[in-house]
Parts: sequence; structure tokens; C-alpha cells
Amino acid sequence: MNAHIVTLPGDYIGPEIIAQAVKVLDRVAAVYGHSFTFDERKLGGASIDAFGVPLTDETLAACNAADAVLMGSVGGPKWDGVEAARRPEKGLLALRKGMGVFANLRPCTIHPQLSSACPLRPDIIEQPIDIMILRELTGDIYFGKRSRSEDRKAATDEMAYSEMEVERLARIGFEMAKKRRGRLCSVDKANVLECSRLWRETVQRLAAEYPEVEVSYMYVDNAAMQLILRPSQFDVMITGNLFGDILSDESAAIAGSLGMMPSASLGSGTRGLYEPIHGSAPDIAGRDIANPLGTILSGALLLRHSLGLEAEAKAIESAVSDVLDAGFRTADIFAEGMTKVSCTKMGDLVAERIK
Ligand code: IPM
Ligand code: MG
Repeated sequence: MNAHIVTLPGDYIGPEIIAQAVKVLDRVAAVYGHSFTFDERKLGGASIDAFGVPLTDETLAACNAADAVLMGSVGGPKWDGVEAARRPEKGLLALRKGMGVFANLRPCTIHPQLSSACPLRPDIIEQPIDIMILRELTGDIYFGKRSRSEDRKAATDEMAYSEMEVERLARIGFEMAKKRRGRLCSVDKANVLECSRLWRETVQRLAAEYPEVEVSYMYVDNAAMQLILRPSQFDVMITGNLFGDILSDESAAIAGSLGMMPSASLGSGTRGLYEPIHGSAPDIAGRDIANPLGTILSGALLLRHSLGLEAEAKAIESAVSDVLDAGFRTADIFAEGMTKVSCTKMGDLVAERIK
């Protein structure tokens, strides 16, 4: 198959981790006889430095013409002084909105080789943990109106959702739950927020169409607690943009390292945006010590969801698992008795195990 992929390395460790994911995808193409072309563009701070804005119209158009987009990370102290409307993160938000990728899949599983990196008690993680956090990505307080009073001593951020936005996300959640273990937990704050009451009513209405899915409703504060107390109770979790941002970082801590976590963002077609869930890690940038596995695993999600290449996606996931089995670790997941490797070396090790 021929596929055209736009890469957006972004800032700080972004270029280092993207290079490893591209290396692995190149290897997949060679082994399986595909042709992947990569078109590298600037996003975030890198784009501010080059063009004065965090996302240009041209880059967005290139992303919307590609089969898939692979992003590294954006932001960092270099652009802290930049005014709010032009911050690096704005580029990422505008990209998500501009690509219409409203459904953000953030899987959380504990790689058995890394179970010692999980901060939870062994008896809590005895039951398998396999959670799919489905985060709404183009609505909520992230995209509402903002204001600041003239004296700058008061501020507002508007939270807004429409029934359509909730419904299209929830339907993906129900479909996923059907293919997984049949359980869907909808997370909201319906005891306080009107947006959450709309969210819950919408999910309740749809539930009637999916009798095979067992639905539960949880307030976000309780969900945050349940994730720590009994994470194995969750199968698919659907939630809004802000709650999903917070709960997915919490789930990353459960999995052992933010560096391991991939994500996929999808809209109504197959084109998607793939990114690790971690940030740009300015403190370790340029030292070749970042963990590229979250980005490499995002590459696997890209093959699965945008290109329909399931065997190739599994090949990457197995290669990652083999490398961990063999005891190789980047600094963030290093433990006594393991072999510490650089970001580049980790990329090489995964690539050479693609068969
Ligand atoms: C994430 C990040 C982003 C978000 C930031 C960088 C805007 O935290 O992808 O989770 O809040 O969505
Ligand atoms: Mg986040």
C-alpha cells in the first residue's frame, strides 16, 4: 500500500522521538512491502520561530490532505512569554479542530514487564488492566469563549457542549465497548454542570440502542478515585475534553510512565492524528534519553486505524514487548538489573525486531 504521512516533530524532545517512530515505520514498509512517504512540517514553537504562528494554513492543509499525521510534542519555556492566542499549544488545538478529530483514544494497559513501575499496590493490579479512555477532543472548555476583565483581576472560560458532539463521541464508545468487554463508563459532573447533564441524558438515550453494552455513570471525582482503587473495573471510559485530559494522565501514572502512552485522534473518516500523550520534556531535550515508545506505539495505532494494517500494527506492538522482555529500558522506566539505552538505540532495537 502507498500512504502519505505528515510528521510534526514539534518542540524539545519532539524531533528525537519522531525520528525513532519514522525509523520503525520505514522498517515496517520494507518488511511488508509498503511505500510510506513522510512530509515533515513545523508545529508549535518551531512554527512560531519560523512563521510567527503556531500552525500555518499551509501545514493544516497538508495534514488534511494526508492519510495520517504523526505528531511529537509542542510547547516549552522558550515560548512562555508569547501571548495566549499564539502559544505553541494553540497550534495543537487548532490542528485537532481543523482536522475534525473529535475522538481521542488513549489506551491504558500495564506492560507486564513494567509492573514494578506501577505505583499501585500489587494486589490492586493483580486483575488485568485494559482501559480505553475515549476523550472528546474538539469541544468543552478548551474551545469556549474566554475573557479577562479590564483590571485583569477576574477571568472566565466557557464550557460548552452540543448534543451532536456528545452523541458522535458516545457512539464510538458504544461500538468499541461491543468489540471489547461490553462495558462503558460515562464520566461527567452531572451533579453540578449543565454540560454534564446534557452529556448524561444523551448517553442514556443512546444506551437503549446498545442493549448488549452494560453502561454505568460516574462523577469525575469518583472516577479519579476508582481508577486508583480498582482500575480493573473499567473497560471503555467516555468523557469530555477537560476531564479526559486529567484522567488520561492519571491512567498513565498507573501504567508506569507517561513515556509509554500512545494516542489516536479520529474524526468521521480514517484520517487521524497520532501523538504520544506526554509533553515536550524540555529538561531532557537534546540528550538522546527520551522514551520513544509512546510515539512508536502511536505509529502502530496509525497503521491500525488510518491504514487498516492490523498485522503491521501488531508487529510493532510485539517488537516493543520483545525489547522490554530483553531488558532494555530508557531512563524513565529503568530499574535495577536492566540495560539502560538511549532514545536512538531504543528505536533501533524496536526496528530490528519487526519481522
Ligand atoms: C494532551 C496535552 C494537551 C491537552 C496540551 C498540550 C494542549 O496535555 O494532549 O493531553 O491539554 O490536550
Ligand atoms: Mg494532557
